[in-house]
Amino acid sequence: MAEKIRILLTEEEVNKKIQEIGEQISKEYAGKQVHLVCVLKGGSFFMCELAKRITVPVSLDFMSVSSYGSETKSSGIVKIVKDLDEPLKDKDVIVVEDIVDSGRTLSYLLEMLRKRGPRSLALCTLLDKPERRVVDVHVDYTGFQIPDEFVVGYGLDYDQRYRNLPYIGVVELD
Ligand code: IMP
Ligand code: MG
Repeated sequence: MAEKIRILLTEEEVNKKIQEIGEQISKEYAGKQVHLVCVLKGGSFFMCELAKRITVPVSLDFMSVSSYGSETKSSGIVKIVKDLDEPLKDKDVIVVEDIVDSGRTLSYLLEMLRKRGPRSLALCTLLDKPERRVVDVHVDYTGFQIPDEFVVGYGLDYDQRYRNLPYIGVVELD
């Protein structure tokens, strides 16, 4: 099936927003080291760009969970595919995500990470679809709230494609 991509947020808009979030985090974590936890694969593009704009010391770790197959709807099933390499004990952790949709993935993940004893635990997401929320999740840093449309780019995929787009686009099926 052919699909078209309509630009929702340009590269300039996304970059500007990431710069703002980077500055905000740098201010709020002054005197501390932030430990960024990237949720693969979607969060990786956002995390790298964000990390470059944070001026306090940064360490990084990665984990992979699965909640989506190649469908465009959440299955509600969350599985840890790859766990973090390092403990979170006494670290100031920020979980970096591409998008909060139903909230199922994040609420499961945050509860699990909290049990590992971080000094603080915050959530930063590039995109948020509040209309789609099924499970309540507290988001500390949000890039953009977007309408209920399936988006790709900046790490987000449609059947594993389009992650490399430097902007956020809406998939239009014809
Ligand atoms: P949640 O558990 O429903 O919040 O799902 C979160 C995950 O679903 C995200 O990390 C994405 O991987 C995926 N997802 C949700 N909405 C979209 C979308 O519009 N485009 C691509 N992936 C999405
Ligand atoms: Mg994700």
